[in-house]
Amino acid sequence: MSMKYNFDELIDRRNTGCEKWSHFDEDVLPMWVADMDFPSPEPIIQALKQRIDHRILGYPCDSTEIKDAIVNWLEHRHNWKVQPDDLMLIPGVISGFNLVSHAVTQPGDAVLLQTPAYPPFFSVSKNANLFQQESALKKAKNGSYEIDFDDLENSIRDNTRVFMLCNPHNPTGRVFRRDELEKIAQICLRNNVLICSDEIHHDLVYRGSKHIPIASLAPEVSKNTVTLLAPSKTFNIAGLTSSVLVCTDPDLRKQIDESRQGLLGWVNILGQTATLAAYRDCAGWLDEMLVYLEDNRDLVDKTVKTEMPGVTMSKPEGTYLAWLDCRNAHLGESPYQFFLDKARVGLNDGSLFGKEGEGFVRLNFGCPRSLLIEGLNRMKMALKQKEEARPA
Ligand SMILES: Cc1ncc(COP(=O)(O)O)c(C=O)c1O
Repeated sequence: MSMKYNFDELIDRRNTGCEKWSHFDEDVLPMWVADMDFPSPEPIIQALKQRIDHRILGYPCDSTEIKDAIVNWLEHRHNWKVQPDDLMLIPGVISGFNLVSHAVTQPGDAVLLQTPAYPPFFSVSKNANLFQQESALKKAKNGSYEIDFDDLENSIRDNTRVFMLCNPHNPTGRVFRRDELEKIAQICLRNNVLICSDEIHHDLVYRGSKHIPIASLAPEVSKNTVTLLAPSKTFNIAGLTSSVLVCTDPDLRKQIDESRQGLLGWVNILGQTATLAAYRDCAGWLDEMLVYLEDNRDLVDKTVKTEMPGVTMSKPEGTYLAWLDCRNAHLGESPYQFFLDKARVGLNDGSLFGKEGEGFVRLNFGCPRSLLIEGLNRMKMALKQKEEARPA
């Protein structure tokens, strides 16, 4: 595939008010929070410039054009047919899953999570006055994560109202297969538990896997699911806070919309402009970026396997996040702190993803190759020095 876009370009993000590059000391290479160090596709940049050039930035409406572009994207990219009326534009997936939990529960109900989990999942119960139930993914022999379906079903209690699915899964990078999704859907239907499916990473899936929106499995599953997605990860526009809630059951949608009133605002005009340009004009950019990201993923995998003794990972099937198991690398209490102190690489601390994440770190490989190589080299060196310092 000949490349039209230059993902190797290095752009200095320091002092631009971005979280990723402001959090650590200057000499730390940040490979943590999930945004990428690539510029957003040109059609988005041009659309934003044009919108600014108009010079009037008043209240936006949810234009039918945007909803049509999203519907079209979901149909062509994910084989999922929804109607424009099924969509709500919302300013964030985190707000979206909290909204859903507020809307459908009473205090004392419970939400069920799969661990390790994206850290904001752990706040849902606190925010909506719910109990939290957990079912841990289990590690297969090849290091990949599988769902323990018996445990999942046994974790459901009479008060369980919502199951939080994350697919593609952050942090493990699993993209759940159709048979797995069907079992999840059956368990939730059988137990009258609503599926709240965070599919924000839906477009970031590598060859050999396919993202299947759980709601697309069957009409009864769709009726029992609220899906959250966004162009933010796909096109690197997280700072524009534009996301989408999909709910095909009109009664449930009304309930969610009523809970939203006065609490959750609209998607701002620049977010809307970018979303339209993204879904209408940027499929080609995404296809190329996925090739680049897949090479990055393979580089991380190879480096970990061959040059990071004691560290293991299974190749993520989706997302640009690698979940590194450092439990056999003798890095002390906190591998996160080890890599920060000794390698000057800023990763995510696995322990924030639940107790199953203790001894793990999450590495973001959504960056130009030279940065990735620099980060991996620093980590390799730190491990080597540590190994050399160990008493024989
Ligand atoms: C699984 C998952 N959900 C939600 C988010 C954040 O969504 P938003 O920024 O739209 O609230 C992230 C960001 O990393 C994520 O990985």
